[in-house]
Amino acid sequence: MSVPRRAHGRIVTVFAAKGGYGKTTLSTNLAVTLNASGARVCLVDLDFEFGDIARWLRLEPTRTLLDAIPLQGKLNAAGGASLITPYRPALDCILAPVDPGQAAKLPSNVTAELLAVLPSLYDYVVVDAPAKLSLHTLSALDSSHHHVLLSTPERPALKNLRRTLDTLELLSYGRQLRSVVINQAGSRLGLTAEEINRLVRSPIAARVPYIWDVPAAINRGVPLAISRPDHPVVRAIGEFARAHLTAERAAQPGFVAADGAGRRPA
Ligand SMILES: Nc1ncnc2c1ncn2[C@@H]1O[C@H](COP(=O)(O)OP(=O)(O)OP(=O)(O)O)[C@@H](O)[C@H]1O
Ligand SMILES: [Mg+2]
Repeated sequence: MSVPRRAHGRIVTVFAAKGGYGKTTLSTNLAVTLNASGARVCLVDLDFEFGDIARWLRLEPTRTLLDAIPLQGKLNAAGGASLITPYRPALDCILAPVDPGQAAKLPSNVTAELLAVLPSLYDYVVVDAPAKLSLHTLSALDSSHHHVLLSTPERPALKNLRRTLDTLELLSYGRQLRSVVINQAGSRLGLTAEEINRLVRSPIAARVPYIWDVPAAINRGVPLAISRPDHPVVRAIGEFARAHLTAERAAQPGFVAADGAGRRPA
């Protein structure tokens, strides 16, 4: 962390209307993929009640977001750095509280404060959001430069995705900030690409295939992006990152971040 920063990092929040659509799968593999391309990355587990990142990556949660509470109101870059759990070189995590009952102790302004300082330490901050539009989720969406909105390719999930997009539009989040990703996609699932497009009514940025290796990798505790960087799931996530995240960042003169691009009008 001693290298002087020439620019601010980008915050990418991964959100879905319901659990099980693949937020943690996407955010962990996205964080590893961005890191593999040379970026400094922080993966933040904002699922305070049942956060998975520590278990998925086999990390000891000795430091969690709960340690941010005493820093409230004065959370600077050093404070943000004190919360991290290193995973790999230039890939750190901020873990969710271990006890779901402690989640209520976390005021939402801690999330806002934390996400205000992390971009000075990292090129990318990837936020694994809970499956609810809580105040913490809204804080993350407000702070983000990019929203990744996930669904699986079943009709009810796609309808929930459309309702999510409508809600975010009502909340005045710009469409240009978002990418819609269909996870667990496949040709044998009953819905054609046209039917999916008709239900979602928004461009689909990526389709991540359904492959059994994903749960197997979770059981091994090593993200596919590490164990099998050429795996089709990892390739789909890598192509998405190149097309929608790294290209967007590189297009900015001097990599200067847009000011609070996700922020809704006050
Ligand atoms: N592309 C995929 N192919 C096969 N299985 C997948 C794929 N993506 C996710 N899964 C499986 O789906 C399940 C749910 O994924 P994941 O835990 O990432 O979802 P989530 O949105 O984070 O859920 P929660 O909100 O409960 O934390 C996991 O068992 C995972 O192994
Ligand atoms: Mg999850």
